[in-house]
Amino acid sequence: MAAVRISLIVTAPAEITVDALAVAVATGQRLTGSALDLDRSLGGLLSELIANDEFKGRIHEVMPVPTHGRIAARRVILYGVGAAHDLDGQRMRSAHHELVRASRTYGYKRLALMRTDPLAMNSLQGVVEGCVMGTFERRSRQTGAQPERGEITDLILTGFGQGREHEVVAAQEAGEATNHAREWQNAPPNELTPEAMAQEAMRIAQRHGLEIEVLGPAELRTGGYNLLLGVSAGSAKPPRLIRMRHRGTQLAGLPPQLDGTVLALVGKGITFDTGGISLKEPAGMSQMKADMGGAAAVLAAMDVIAGRKLPLDVMVVIAASENMPGASAQRPGDVVMSADGKTVEILNTDAEGRLVLADAITHALRNGATHILDLATLTGAAAVAIGHAATAAVSNDDAFWNLVEKAADRAGDRVWRLPIYADYRVLLRSQVADLRNSEYGEAGTILGGMFIGEFVDGKPWAHLDIAASSWNTNTELTTVLRGPSGAGTRLCIELAELMSSPVR
Ligand code: BES
Ligand code: MN
Ligand code: ZN
Repeated sequence: MAAVRISLIVTAPAEITVDALAVAVATGQRLTGSALDLDRSLGGLLSELIANDEFKGRIHEVMPVPTHGRIAARRVILYGVGAAHDLDGQRMRSAHHELVRASRTYGYKRLALMRTDPLAMNSLQGVVEGCVMGTFERRSRQTGAQPERGEITDLILTGFGQGREHEVVAAQEAGEATNHAREWQNAPPNELTPEAMAQEAMRIAQRHGLEIEVLGPAELRTGGYNLLLGVSAGSAKPPRLIRMRHRGTQLAGLPPQLDGTVLALVGKGITFDTGGISLKEPAGMSQMKADMGGAAAVLAAMDVIAGRKLPLDVMVVIAASENMPGASAQRPGDVVMSADGKTVEILNTDAEGRLVLADAITHALRNGATHILDLATLTGAAAVAIGHAATAAVSNDDAFWNLVEKAADRAGDRVWRLPIYADYRVLLRSQVADLRNSEYGEAGTILGGMFIGEFVDGKPWAHLDIAASSWNTNTELTTVLRGPSGAGTRLCIELAELMSSPVR
């Protein structure tokens, strides 16, 4: 898939020669400004469709309109963004994702988009990210199959002003990074194994000259990473603990560690989760190929962070493993000592994410992390708590959380913070060990997060449970993009941007 060429121009919309010219419409709003001018060139055709309620402006509503030579574009394509007051960053991206997908279905190659009323000047980033995300197509492994949709070659933006090319480039990078994460999520688990994940990380490290270290079973035993080893024990495929480092302050020639901040982005990289001895039901188990969505997001984000040479020290740590039943698999009832010396009673081998993340976080701390953001497809309960339209989160630090929330807002990558109540701490306790890994009885997403929080050594930390947000499996939830979403990718990029800017 070749990258779409994106250009910013100042030409009047009616004069742009393209297959289709996209015009955003919000529900209950009339055309104004440049859209009204365009409509006059078309003899009032667009306002008639809108006044007649044939086009309502609902989000994901798309309507191609023939122009019969009255303007340079062969078609106008009306697309809905929903009610203006509901139009947050995530819906902005979703609407443009759908616009591009529909345009590809209609076979358009050159698409123009004019900024009109429901789109503010500052919507440029969301427009471009959404459009680029709409170019995503899961790589087909069908032999001889014809693609259902075509490809957009050009996206031409008008009405966004001049001199904003750097914003377009940044948004395209973020959109493409999201798509990389989506592709990894979708990859079959026999292809994307822990070792293959390490190879992907090495490719990225090589591209940017990053420091990288990949630990296998022998080194993990030496380091005492028994929680990760325990999860991988049932698998024939060895685990990998991957660590990459972007030394951004040094690169920028700033005084050594300006304020000493080292942001660790820690990803759950379970390349297949059968549940282990606490085996999952067969129905839907194939979905567990995407149990490495956290790893995918942090890896894709690091590619952009390093590419931009952001003046911030950023570390990525990925715990990559399968979770399989087998003769040497760990058992419910096992007690395992974590890398930082806590004993954990394994009551359910399917609560493996928190185990591998605990050791991954210890690894990040041993290597100097000062701030920790972990991303994990951790609990099915996340879908119950807030559903697929946002990432569920917990945090131990209000100041760090404010940054995460701001990053999410800028990225159009929703998060919602759940509370950590001191009362719940007793639910983590075991009769025989320091902690137990499941059977808390309630508040599953919060307690999954709280378990991980036991390993952060008091450092500012936030945990993003992307189990629901990274893959919308609810077919009735039509305006949240379906399939792999790359949730968390753009958030990580924006967080690194925020933390590297001097005023924060
Ligand atoms: N990978 C799953 C969580 C998950 C569920 C992700 C659905 C995406 C979609 C995780 O490892 C898991 O199995 N969690 C258990 C935890 C429980 C045993 C405490 C769960 O949610 O049931
Ligand atoms: Mn599991
Ligand atoms: Zn899992």
